[in-house]
Amino acid sequence: MDSELKNTMYYYVTLLCMFNILFVNVNGLTLKTSRACIIGAGYSGLGAARYMKQYHVNFTVFEATRNFGGTWHFDPHVGTDEDGLPVFSSMYNDLRTNTPRQTMEYYDFPFPEGTPSYPSATCFLDYLKSFVKHFDLLSHIQLRSLVTSVKWAGNHWNLTYTKTDTKENVTETCDFIVVANGPYNTPVWPKYDGIDTFEGSMIHSHDYKDRKAYKNRKVLIVGAGASGLDLAIQLSNVTAKLVHSHHLVYNEPKFFDGYVKKPDIMAFTPKGVIFRDESFEELDDVIFCTGYDFNHPFLDESCGVTSTAKFVLPLHKQLVNIKHPSMVFLGIAKKIITRVMDAQAEYAALLASGKLKLPSQEEMLNSWLKHISSLQVKGMKIIDLNVVGSEMDQYFGNLTEEAGVVRAPPVLTAIRDFNGVNRLDDLLNYREYDYSIIDNFHYERKYNPRQNIPCPVEV
Ligand SMILES: Cc1cc2nc3c(=O)[nH]c(=O)nc-3n(C[C@H](O)[C@H](O)[C@H](O)COP(=O)(O)OP(=O)(O)OC[C@H]3O[C@@H](n4cnc5c(N)ncnc54)[C@H](O)[C@@H]3O)c2cc1C
Ligand SMILES: *[C@@H]1O[C@H](CO)[C@@H](O)[C@H](O)[C@H]1NC(C)=O
Ligand SMILES: *[C@@H]1O[C@H](CO)[C@@H](O)[C@H](O)[C@H]1NC(C)=O
Ligand SMILES: *[C@@H]1O[C@H](CO)[C@@H](O)[C@H](O)[C@H]1NC(C)=O
Ligand SMILES: *[C@@H]1O[C@H](CO)[C@@H](O)[C@H](O)[C@H]1NC(C)=O
Ligand SMILES: *[C@@H]1O[C@H](CO)[C@@H](O)[C@H](O)[C@H]1NC(C)=O
Repeated sequence: MDSELKNTMYYYVTLLCMFNILFVNVNGLTLKTSRACIIGAGYSGLGAARYMKQYHVNFTVFEATRNFGGTWHFDPHVGTDEDGLPVFSSMYNDLRTNTPRQTMEYYDFPFPEGTPSYPSATCFLDYLKSFVKHFDLLSHIQLRSLVTSVKWAGNHWNLTYTKTDTKENVTETCDFIVVANGPYNTPVWPKYDGIDTFEGSMIHSHDYKDRKAYKNRKVLIVGAGASGLDLAIQLSNVTAKLVHSHHLVYNEPKFFDGYVKKPDIMAFTPKGVIFRDESFEELDDVIFCTGYDFNHPFLDESCGVTSTAKFVLPLHKQLVNIKHPSMVFLGIAKKIITRVMDAQAEYAALLASGKLKLPSQEEMLNSWLKHISSLQVKGMKIIDLNVVGSEMDQYFGNLTEEAGVVRAPPVLTAIRDFNGVNRLDDLLNYREYDYSIIDNFHYERKYNPRQNIPCPVEV
């Protein structure tokens, strides 16, 4: 689809969604919640659970799998898990965070002293376990409950889930919904000429588990986002040949002698790939590191939001469903640190508890429209409408100003910005440093290489 057509399409989507909104309320909104339902027990849903408890809102967390932790819980299955669910987690062995833990910690719940700034994924899961224990959240989490439908039923929500043990469908009523089912569960598969004829193996990074499978093989990695770069490090020195197709401009490190950078793919053949520079590489395996789509298959039309692969609209503060403000989304905001979800979770609980008075729906829609029209001025497209990016510190400030959410200090944005640049500058070594926060504006960074990565978290 050409981009003009795309823009026209989005314009109509926007218009449609505006007409869909009836102004039931013009004076500002305060909610009264006797039961909140949280969908998903990853970082975001657990954060919401903590604040619901703190602000005395009754709540249940519905989690599809047998475990909490979301992304951070490694699942060895590929495709479907032991209960027949699609595997949601994209975690793999030997992953270390690509952002300093200081930007990921929940408010007032730091990792223990001595934890490296880039802990392992297992350490991050231990941290989540210690969080659940500390705030005594486990009894509020209902595992093995796959939410299949959320419907507006006039003055409350009907939430339906399938119990994965008995396959029974159950409908419960909630008067507040927190959507926290994760932004990185649904892989994007690109299309290429001849791809169906390729005789080697092809996976998306979502299904990548371990470097062992690639020992001495000829492997192509497609993409140089967070996953593509990290898998290039993982597979360097392991594969016989590592072909990396991408167009990122960065300080490419010396991976190993078998590494070769290529431009975009032109076509597949049975034995390999032809690239845009007309060169050919023979390949055994291809790993598509081509990112993820949003996916909210359980949202009924009556929810009054438009959820597509790339954006959700219209949301007040990237968070509140303007049509039905008793529904919030965590983690739709893009290009942010994980701590944003903690702030959003507190906002959600303040809203659910009646402590926060929202602007009227008309005012929320007006400021959303202003946001949409400002995108072009900032050189962004309508498809970027959920990007917070360089405005993250202001976003934290806005959540504080509007809702009284604890202000995340600007130093976190400074660390985020430095890490983003430094990762591309020093890909092989950027994790060998520890950060420490000095005050709300300053941090220190020290070289601290380690043989083994310690995890002093007690579970
Ligand atoms: C491989 C990888 C590495 C990453 N590394 C970093 C990093 O280093 N630093 C960083 O800041 N961020 C990183 N991220 C981003 C990471 O996703 C966020 O940090 C955070 O974990 C997202 O939490 P979440 O709760 O929003 O989503 P998730 O962790 O995905 O949790 C969603 C939960 O919802 C459940 N669920 C899904 N659908 C349903 C349903 N229908 N009904 C009930 N439950 C459902 C899932 O089972 C899951 O438990 C990484 C992401 C990936 C994929
Ligand atoms: C919480 O739920 C219990 C049981 O359903 C109910 O008795 C109680 O009134 C609820 N509390 C609030 C604050 O709504
Ligand atoms: C909501 O659920 C109740 C109880 O299961 C049911 O009677 C009602 O029809 C449902 N409403 C909608 C809009 O689905
Ligand atoms: C439960 O609902 C799903 C649709 O979400 C349906 O396919 C399935 O048949 C239902 N199961 C039972 C036992 O009714
Ligand atoms: C590959 O091995 C060499 C020699 O041991 C080492 O210097 C280099 O850092 C390794 N590369 C990666 C990406 O691990
Ligand atoms: C913060 O709020 C101001 C005033 O409402 C608004 O103009 C700005 O776009 C908001 N920024 C973000 C990132 O939310």
